[in-house]
Amino acid sequence: MSEFTHHIFVCCNQREPGHSRGCCDPAGSEALRNAFKTEVKNRNLGPCVRANSAGCLDQCELGPVVVIYPQAIWYGGVTVADVPRIIEETVIGGKILEDLRIPSEKLNAAKLDKPKAN
Ligand code: FES
Repeated sequence: MSEFTHHIFVCCNQREPGHSRGCCDPAGSEALRNAFKTEVKNRNLGPCVRANSAGCLDQCELGPVVVIYPQAIWYGGVTVADVPRIIEETVIGGKILEDLRIPSEKLNAAKLDKPKAN
């Protein structure tokens, strides 16, 4: 099985209007996921890079949220207009976009106790 150099998970979760946590794709259009898929395809990155829709990534207050693995790069407030530079600068160029990055201390997982090693 091949390994992707970058696996982009795009939160496409929907919640009812007025939900206290909001959601990343209130219109249910998956426009952000589709923009990533188009950009990956147009740049012929398909064999190494994949973009998938994801359910809630538990960073709802910071959405729309995207996470790129295995690098574990979290971006928040992502728009369709950001997609070309995420692909160009982060995926191809290896640069973190500081204006979009969710700092690790803001991630909800950072607030949980980490499992202890045996
Ligand atoms: S709804 Fe997108 S992270 Fe929760």
